[in-house]
Order: sequence, then structure tokens, then C-alpha cells
Amino acid sequence: MTTTELPDDFYAAVPVCQGRTAAMDYLRRPGPVYQAGKTWIITSYDGVRYAQKNPDLFSSAKAFDGLSAAIPMIPLAIDPPKHADYRRVLDPMFGPKRIDAMEGELRAQLRGHIDAFAPLGHCDVVADLSYKFPTQAILTLFGLPLEHLPQFLVWVTGIIKGADITALGLEPTPQVIDCSMALFGFLQEQIEIKRRQPGQDMLSSILALDGDQAWTDAEILGLCFLIVLAGLDTVTGAIGFSLLTLATDPQLRQRLVADPALIGPFVEEMLRLEGPVPGVPRRTTADVEVEGVTIPADSPVLLMVSTANREVPSAAANPDEMDLTAKPAHLGFGGGIHRCLGSHLARRELRLTIEEFHARIPDYRLAGEATTLWPAGTFALESLPLQFDPR
Ligand code: HEM
Repeated sequence: MTTTELPDDFYAAVPVCQGRTAAMDYLRRPGPVYQAGKTWIITSYDGVRYAQKNPDLFSSAKAFDGLSAAIPMIPLAIDPPKHADYRRVLDPMFGPKRIDAMEGELRAQLRGHIDAFAPLGHCDVVADLSYKFPTQAILTLFGLPLEHLPQFLVWVTGIIKGADITALGLEPTPQVIDCSMALFGFLQEQIEIKRRQPGQDMLSSILALDGDQAWTDAEILGLCFLIVLAGLDTVTGAIGFSLLTLATDPQLRQRLVADPALIGPFVEEMLRLEGPVPGVPRRTTADVEVEGVTIPADSPVLLMVSTANREVPSAAANPDEMDLTAKPAHLGFGGGIHRCLGSHLARRELRLTIEEFHARIPDYRLAGEATTLWPAGTFALESLPLQFDPR
């Protein structure tokens, strides 16, 4: 098949219901670089790495022009050199030390959810756990009171369901605008409160910056908004696929229950093989040749980290299979200057979820269909019904 024959709906038609390997094979079949509709798709590891390492040719700011005009999505929609200024300030605020300090609270939140359904003998992981917990984690990171969780979830769901951050050239819908305005109003209020009563949290740290380093309220709101978009349904999806894999592979589950040190390598392999992010958007700033194919200037491009992950050097002998000893440097969190700012938090959320789930419910099985929503900005499950002995 030549690239010009690919239909406009090629990407929307990815057969996710046939499993992730079939979906990845489908996306890789037309080649390492091809055009589907208006969008150029880079599927190979080398091609994706090249684009990540050349942000001057593959602009993130231009990819988010529509959304970021109203809201400066910091630092995702910022190109060099300004991007580095933001990351220099933000990286320590999302580093392992900050996440260590949150661990006790995160575990308590998880136990609260798991204790609520453990006596019932069944749960829907999505509704009962993987949807609420990442939002609590973000409130904790921001240092915002958890009593706001229900209202926060309503706004966040409105924004995430209405906006697809990987959609190219997307204009915000009225629902996204309404929920965003409500969320902005709330965050603005909380920023004022934090100014008066600072804590040991991310928002307080940013508000404490002064002089040349000080951020405007618009910048702070833009960062908070991006974190809501980038840090919630990604973790929801990753928890869902992790527990689905463990529910349907009793041997693997028993290995992890017997040796919790394997949970870390398992999480990495899940991010490589079943990560929640299919691809990330860019726009070319000039004609650029990738893998022998010329992508014209000003073209929308998707860097498919999910397919590239099937070609990561040093992955298992069969890169489509899980190998808890391989430790390949996967691209599930992206790479280059825009590598995920929340990777430490995300990894911790995933590890703690499995540890706490197994501590209370070590044996569980799938109790219905686990459907993947598609097309969507992330790979995520609609529901994940599980059964187990009441505990
Ligand atoms: C399993 C969960 C997650 C996955 C798989 C993931 C994946 C990614 C990927 C692939 C990128 C690169 C985007 C690009 O190159 O355009 C990214 C960037 C980013 N992520 Fe995550 N993410 C996750 C969780 C989180 C969390 C929990 C947060 C916030 C607390 C977060 C915040 C961000 C931010 C702010 C960026 C932009 C970084 C920059 O542009 O410099 N992510 N993420």
C-alpha cells in the first residue's frame, strides 16, 4: 500500500479491540513514515527519536496553536529556548523527593478506595479506583483540599471528554470552555488562598518564585490546566491496563504477589507495551526528511511512541512480549525536551496501586468485558469489572 492510498479514517480505524499488538501491527504496516488524511505518522523508533531530538523542526507550540491561544499550556506547548526556563523551575517540583513526601497520603487514599469495595467481592476498577485516585493525587500535588474532589472530577471529566490533546488543530468545544472557565475560577481562588497560606506543595513553590523568576497567574493557570489534561486519564488508562493484564494472567499475578520487587519492572513493561499514550503531536517548521520520506513544512505530525516502543533497542528477544528482566529505555513517557514531567508521580501511582491492591486482594479475575475506548486521545478502558473473594 502506498501512503497516498490511506483513507482519512485510517487512524480512527485502529483495531484496538483486537488487542494492543494487533493495533500496533496495523499502525506499523504502512511503513516508518506515512501520511493518513492530513496527518503524517512516524511509527519507527529511529524516526520518533529523530523528531524528539529536533524540536526546532518539530514544533510543539505550533501543534497546539488552537488550544494554547486561549490557555498557555506550559511547558508542553512551549518551544525552545523558553521551554528550558520552565523545566529548570519545574523539574525539582516533580522530582522523586517531592513524590516521596506524598507517598503516605497516596497510600491512604488508595486504601480508602480499596477498603470500600473489598468486602463486596467485586468492583469496577475504572469507576471505583482508577478514575478517582489520579485526581486525588493531583489535588495532593497542588496542595488543594480533597473535599473538592467531586466538583473537581465533574470539571475534569468535562474537559477530558471534550478535548483530545493529541487531536491536531483542535478548537476547544463549548463544553471544554465552560468546564475550563469553572476550573480556572476555582484554581484562581485557591491560588489566592495559597498566597496567604503557603504550604509544602507545588503551587506554593511556584507562588514563592520572585523577581525575574516570578510567574504570572496566567502561566500558573496554564500549567495547572495542562497537568489536569496530561496527568489524569493517562494514569487512569495505565492502572486499567495493568490490572487487566494481571487479572487475565494468574501466573504473572502470582509472581508479583510473591515478589513485590517485580512490580517496578512490570510497570515499565506495561508502559512500553500497553502505555496509555498512542502518539504525541508536532508540526513541522520546514521540509524535513525522516527515514527517507520528506514531510513538507507546516504539516501536522504524530510521533507514535506506542509503536516505537515495539522497536526499543535491548527490549526482549520478542519485543511484543513482556520481559521483567530486560529494562529497555522505553518511550512511554516520551523523550527529548518534552519528556514527561510527571513520570515520577505516575510511576509511583502505578506501583502503589498494585501494591495496595494486592495487599488486600491478591486473587482476582475478570468478570465481564473490558472495552477499550477508541478513537480517543489516550488508550483507556471504559470499564474493568473484577471479581474476587470478599475480604
Ligand atoms: C502513565 C502516565 C503518564 C504517561 C504515559 C505520560 C506520558 C507523557 C508523554 C508521552 C509526554 C510527552 C509529550 C510530548 O512529547 O509532546 C508527556 C509529557 C508531559 N506529561 Fe506526562 N504522562 C503520564 C503522567 C503524567 C502525570 C501524572 C503528569 C503530571 C503530574 C504529567 C505531566 C506531563 C507534562 C506537564 C508534560 C509536558 C512536559 C513538557 O512539555 O516539557 N504526565 N507525558
